Amino acid sequence: MSERAAPLHVTTGGDVSALADRVVANLASAVHAAPETLRLPLLCLLSEGHVLVEDVPGVGKTVLAKALARSIDLRFQRMQFTPDLLPADVTGVNVFDRQSGSFQFRPGPVFANVLLVDEINRASPKTQSALLEAMQETQVTVDGATHELERPFLVIATQNPVEYEGTYPLPEAQLDRFLLRTGFGYPTADAEWEMLERRLERGVDEVELHSVVDRETLLAMQRAVEGVHVDESVGRYVVDLVAATRESPSVSVGSSPRGSLALVKLSRCRAALDGRDFVTPDDVKSVAIPALAHRLVLRPELWVQRRSGEDVVREILDHVRTPATETP
Ligand SMILES: Nc1ncnc2c1ncn2[C@@H]1O[C@H](COP(=O)(O)OP(=O)(O)OP(=O)(O)O)[C@@H](O)[C@H]1O
Ligand SMILES: [Mg+2]
Repeated sequence: MSERAAPLHVTTGGDVSALADRVVANLASAVHAAPETLRLPLLCLLSEGHVLVEDVPGVGKTVLAKALARSIDLRFQRMQFTPDLLPADVTGVNVFDRQSGSFQFRPGPVFANVLLVDEINRASPKTQSALLEAMQETQVTVDGATHELERPFLVIATQNPVEYEGTYPLPEAQLDRFLLRTGFGYPTADAEWEMLERRLERGVDEVELHSVVDRETLLAMQRAVEGVHVDESVGRYVVDLVAATRESPSVSVGSSPRGSLALVKLSRCRAALDGRDFVTPDDVKSVAIPALAHRLVLRPELWVQRRSGEDVVREILDHVRTPATETP
């Protein structure tokens, strides 16, 4: 192994991949899902991004969000978005305190480390944009005063892919703010039976999880990931993939440069989780669909053919030349 392939050490408690494995194993004890599904929100947390989960009800989204927060000892909040929700219900309000005779800021649910927002598309665009602004800037402004959010800050927003009535679909520009989009899908028959079996044995609904990594360690892991090397050939591969989304005849609007940044950030984390301090083209491929598919606006005729952004990214991965891999 070359010098560059040394594990990424975090000052407390080991290297990034060992710590991440610990978190994923902990999640797996509460959530029945493929390891890749469990890894994606962690990748997002390490890249300081946010996740959009598009899935039907009852597949374990809440269980996963809570388990992630518990595993890292982070503050968890959940919000259900509804049409009557106001921006202040998200960010917080200034209330008059009689004793001191002045206004005091009462922080809203956005002041959390892991914020689960259910049915993000049910709130008015004004409320959605208050949340998206907080996501982008890690701060909120209320009555002219700015309040910083605590790091890490991860929003897991959910959206039901089949029920659109009475919703305000997120505009493309706002979808772009999510580092990745994913879905859980239904469990396999074996996994579903295992879930029932465990549930029957236990009698209670939720598994008591202990934290396996603390907040400081997570922040150190984030810093360590920034040390992962991206070779020019791999960086150019990312650029080629994103350019291909803009040139594809199936797409009317391709990925923004924010998409290429997302691809690089996620690939770095993917490499770190594998215990490598350099990114390979395979890292890029493994995150390309969740990182890019939601950023593409397909031509209307493709909707009729029931083709999705995922199909287009898959096609692009097949066609764009992969750079030769040599360990740096
Ligand atoms: N993959 C899973 N792993 C563990 N438990 C699960 C899983 N899927 C469903 N469950 C169980 O089913 C119930 C519903 O799960 P959960 O509340 O996480 O679903 P959800 O996706 O958040 O649904 P909704 O969209 O309605 O909020 C919970 O009691 C949970 O224990
Ligand atoms: Mg839920």
